[in-house]
Amino acid sequence: MTSDDRVHRVRMVRDSLLREGPPWTRGPGDFETVTLPRHDCDLLRDLLIREGVRSVVEVGLAYGSSALAIAEALLTVGWPEPRHIVIDPFQEQAYAGVGWGALRSAGLDPVTTLLAEPSSSALPRLAGEGLTADAAFVDGSHRFHEVFVDLYFLRKIVRPGGLVVLDDDWAPSVRTAVRYYERNLGWTVIAGAFADGTVRRLGDDPAAETVPRCRALRMPDPPFEPPFEAFRPF
Ligand SMILES: C[S@@+](CC[C@H](N)C(=O)[O-])C[C@H]1O[C@@H](n2cnc3c(N)ncnc32)[C@H](O)[C@@H]1O
Repeated sequence: MTSDDRVHRVRMVRDSLLREGPPWTRGPGDFETVTLPRHDCDLLRDLLIREGVRSVVEVGLAYGSSALAIAEALLTVGWPEPRHIVIDPFQEQAYAGVGWGALRSAGLDPVTTLLAEPSSSALPRLAGEGLTADAAFVDGSHRFHEVFVDLYFLRKIVRPGGLVVLDDDWAPSVRTAVRYYERNLGWTVIAGAFADGTVRRLGDDPAAETVPRCRALRMPDPPFEPPFEAFRPF
């Protein structure tokens, strides 16, 4: 199978997931509520292709829309031995394995590794093993402390100058966690990456402004550790 064939197969599975939905859902409307919308998936894919990624860590598999988009990017870039590590403790028990099933039917099992455990235990282990990645996509628990910890360890895993992309930046828990890294650790927003993506009101407050649901950030290069006295409230 040529690399074009492999990309085509992933696209076919992505199309069919969007057209027909997954073979099983947790209930009516759950797929549409939980999964990353197609246009945001396309923007994520295109961003990763522009970055020329070879390795991506993803937190939160669910129905697999974002995972398929990331895999499409990895295969399109075309490095030998691309690597996609996906972390989700609830893929079997909460999602009946449908996200992993979609990845398998797209022929991605040689590229993608599923770690069925919380990101708060998988990421420190991966960091301890010396894993490095070009980018990460975070769409896991959404609790402030868990997002904060994900970003803490991804800072050790994603290479200097690499990317961290988060979904649900409209949620105060996610937005507040990432703001620490922006204000204190030199992560910079990639303006425009999701400018025409899906928007949502901050905190789902009808009176609040709308913001893009995804936020893309670049890690500083070279990395640095600020002195504790330089702490900026966030
Ligand atoms: C919003 S869904 C992800 C949607 C997915 N990006 C898609 O496009 O279909 C959130 C996922 O995070 C997973 N999750 C929840 N807590 C987690 C944790 N502590 N570590 C990793 N994944 C977690 C859930 O099982 C769920 O699959």
